[in-house]
Amino acid sequence: MRTAIYPGSFDPVTLGHWDLVQRAAKLVDRLVVAVLHNPSKSPAFTVEERVAMLKELTTTLPHVEITSFHGLLVDFAKAQNAQVIVRGVRAFSDFEYEFQMALMNRKLAPELETVFLMPKEKYSAVSSRLVREIGGMGGNLSELVPEVLRERIANRLGK
Ligand code: PNS
Repeated sequence: MRTAIYPGSFDPVTLGHWDLVQRAAKLVDRLVVAVLHNPSKSPAFTVEERVAMLKELTTTLPHVEITSFHGLLVDFAKAQNAQVIVRGVRAFSDFEYEFQMALMNRKLAPELETVFLMPKEKYSAVSSRLVREIGGMGGNLSELVPEVLRERIANRLGK
């Protein structure tokens, strides 16, 4: 049974994340999308809200699980019996951070492999940070976040 973890902040989930989930889900028997509890950030959505939104989005994919985690990703991945960490790279600018993280995770847990997937080109400029900024100024989120979650995300960010 091949299990992959797709970790992230998902604050909030974007169309780029959703594209990645669908790609990764095709490659493994079990995909665990894991939202980090990060005490050093003040998020727009609570971890519980982010988990709920991801669950709503993935109801049609039975082998995709949504959860949250504390602490080191490699410890969580081992506890989940995962062999693979999935991360998305949108552009070259993502690469340095992702490369550093992948190599550090490999140092911590050599048995785990990080796999990078590319979302559709039209999502290469989409990020949670820009969604928060655009939503906060009342901008149109239709090309940025999944349709089923758009109103909820816009209402929260617009406040
Ligand atoms: O969506 P993000 O914010 O880019 O995701 C970053 C994430 C959650 C993958 C990363 O911060 C992480 O794995 N944090 C857990 C703590 C950890 O393992 N740190 C060492 C990484 S080398």
